Amino acid sequence: MSDAEIGVIGLGTMGAMLAMNIADNGFKVAVHNRTASRIPGFLEEAGDLAERISGHETLDAFVQGLATPRNIILMVPAGSPVDSQIAALRPLLDKDDMIIDAGNANFHESQRRADEAAEAGVPFLGIGVSGGAEGARFGPSIMGGGTAEAWDRVAHILEAISAKYEGQPCATYMGPGGAGHFVKTVHNGIEYADMQLIAEVYGVMRDGMGMEAAAIGAVFDGWNEGRLQSYLIEISGKVAAASDLETGNPILDMILDRAGQKGTGRWTAIEAQMLGAPVPVIEAAVMARNMSAARDLRLSGADAFPAARSSDIAGALSMKDLEAALVAGKILCYAQGFDLLGKASSENGWDLPMPAIAEVWREGCIIRSAMLNDMSQALSEAPERNLAVAPYFADLLKDSIAALRKVAVTAIGAGQPVPALSAALAYFDTLTSARTTANMLQAQRDYFGAHSFERVDRDGAHHGPWLGQHLKT
Ligand code: 6PG
Repeated sequence: MSDAEIGVIGLGTMGAMLAMNIADNGFKVAVHNRTASRIPGFLEEAGDLAERISGHETLDAFVQGLATPRNIILMVPAGSPVDSQIAALRPLLDKDDMIIDAGNANFHESQRRADEAAEAGVPFLGIGVSGGAEGARFGPSIMGGGTAEAWDRVAHILEAISAKYEGQPCATYMGPGGAGHFVKTVHNGIEYADMQLIAEVYGVMRDGMGMEAAAIGAVFDGWNEGRLQSYLIEISGKVAAASDLETGNPILDMILDRAGQKGTGRWTAIEAQMLGAPVPVIEAAVMARNMSAARDLRLSGADAFPAARSSDIAGALSMKDLEAALVAGKILCYAQGFDLLGKASSENGWDLPMPAIAEVWREGCIIRSAMLNDMSQALSEAPERNLAVAPYFADLLKDSIAALRKVAVTAIGAGQPVPALSAALAYFDTLTSARTTANMLQAQRDYFGAHSFERVDRDGAHHGPWLGQHLKT
């Protein structure tokens, strides 16, 4: 049999779910896994769908099972496993056979792989896939990078398996080389930030207002009916309501406060720094995960400063304040993410479709939310304008920024850590400062390094009266 329209290598959770999704959409799919003993179990899990799935124990047989020109999705761990898999596969393929890396690749690696493929004259795509296991099975959000021809070749399959927003597929070509994986990386940076903002508000309710997990869950459920409607708020409500099967306690209270990470949030922060794009909420979220992991340090800190925190701010804040603070924080965090995407687009000559990025995130992905539709509209009007100053979001911020300030100030006053909320506020206060204090920085730079500065009253590079003076003996 050599008639599978597409192949999937890697039958971990994501690969297995993606292969089933492809078969569920009527395509014949060939699968292979390095540990071949996984294949029969997978075919059994696939049930009726296995009619359209052919499992192959060897790479050779897998390749032979595909219709030509071949299209092969790799769903293997990001990094060197992808390169090893490509190296093993390429000698078995024809020149027009295409490899599609669907893992969470670092976009620099996708760029390199795209360059190598271009040099060898073979097609390659790097696609970012979001939505976790459920998304992979029933409709993920897909962000494609590579040549437009490569994308067009498999677009019908990727669109069919993707999530749909009002019938529109959430699978979009983003641009050449690493563009798709870059957009996915920023998605994850925003994911970190959105999660952290929610976690901080949860912390205010838990530690500052003495609320039980179930009550907090009910608040999230309510918010999910309003402006904050989103997958992350929805699941936050669900996890807060859930009980531990062993102890009967709220499961949240049984989970150790030490967060893991695979690194995509960190990559976003690193790329933002490289591009000079301010993303303080994302950076705060990465920092918070790192600090959460440093549990021993936190325990010794809590020991050394036992009375650093007050737990009585219940009277100072309302649920409306917290909701509005989260609205403001969310807008500011997305404004930073899109600003970063815009800068990366210009720097790399990608011409990223800014409104389409907001659109591809409306369904299927982890950060899907009602607000993304409004963002796509704001970005259609002016793709390069910071979302915070787009009229619709500026009005929302005017209504919610006072609450963000109140929540941040109250939490800080009580010694509660709210790094992402604070970073959002500091970003807003800087963004709205017609006059910052960078004149002091420029003066300092000129004083110690003769770096020169611009003047407020005329053009050109100037020096202060100190030039040469302090160097005299
Ligand atoms: C997605 C997610 C996913 C990510 C996990 C874990 O869009 O489906 O972003 O790709 O890998 O959520 O990420 P961390 O381990 O870094 O939290």
